[in-house]
Amino acid sequence: MKGIILAGGSGTRLHPLTQVTSKQLLPIYDQPMIYYPLNTLLKAGIKDILIIVAPERSGDFLNLLGSGKQFGARITYEVQDKPEGLAQAFIIGADFIGDDSVAMILGDNIFTDDLSDSIRSFKSGAKVFAKKVHDPERFGVIEIANGKVISVEEKPKSPKSDLAQIGFYIYDNRVVDFAKNLTPSARGEYEIVDLNNKYLENGELVAEELKGEWIDAGTFESLHRASVIAREHKLGIRDMKSDISVTIKKPEFQKKTEKII
Ligand code: TTP
Repeated sequence: MKGIILAGGSGTRLHPLTQVTSKQLLPIYDQPMIYYPLNTLLKAGIKDILIIVAPERSGDFLNLLGSGKQFGARITYEVQDKPEGLAQAFIIGADFIGDDSVAMILGDNIFTDDLSDSIRSFKSGAKVFAKKVHDPERFGVIEIANGKVISVEEKPKSPKSDLAQIGFYIYDNRVVDFAKNLTPSARGEYEIVDLNNKYLENGELVAEELKGEWIDAGTFESLHRASVIAREHKLGIRDMKSDISVTIKKPEFQKKTEKII
């Protein structure tokens, strides 16, 4: 299975923080935001990862993550010229996906559940994830019975459940063709809900409910909350960081200062 992190977008709700950098590079506790979705994929054994970025920020992502070798991964980059919708990731990423299945995570989605088993057990169709919220009308809302999805609605006025769809999706290889055949919605975007509805029509859309916390770190409040839960639950790329710290040498001047003291 391949992995995609969608890290474009404009992040306008976080201005001025995102005026000169990407939302996904902002600090969440002690790590750049993108480390958290990256860790979600790495933990599940997904090592071939495409990062989709906005053109003006591409160099920053490359500087931070490089080839991915330090994470034991192979990272590829593609530019999304304009933020034209989540489902566009599968058009931009078509060559990268090749004949594989794919897990796509939004670069600002952080959660405490470990989804590794769920990712590893995926066989075919589409799998989405949901979280109970008190204001479902703000989200894509899914209705589930026995793990199968019955309906998906984007920001409904009268939600049929309190389950919001989170920014993590797993699809079999047909997603590439489905995405290529989408037409942009009234707001001019390739909608992920249209993609999910293709699988739903065939009875091949399943959903799992998250038990822990889920943060979409797109507002000041949720950005702050993300740092709190990252610290509390020790989220992010912890093992690798401790490996790195072992290899860091003390700078010369520091040793000298210690002697003087
Ligand atoms: P949003 O939070 O919906 O959009 P945004 O990041 O541009 O923020 P704002 O609404 O404040 O302007 O996007 C969710 C995630 O998906 C985020 O990580 C950015 C990413 N994204 C893309 O990379 N390309 C896209 O075309 C869209 C719509 C989102």
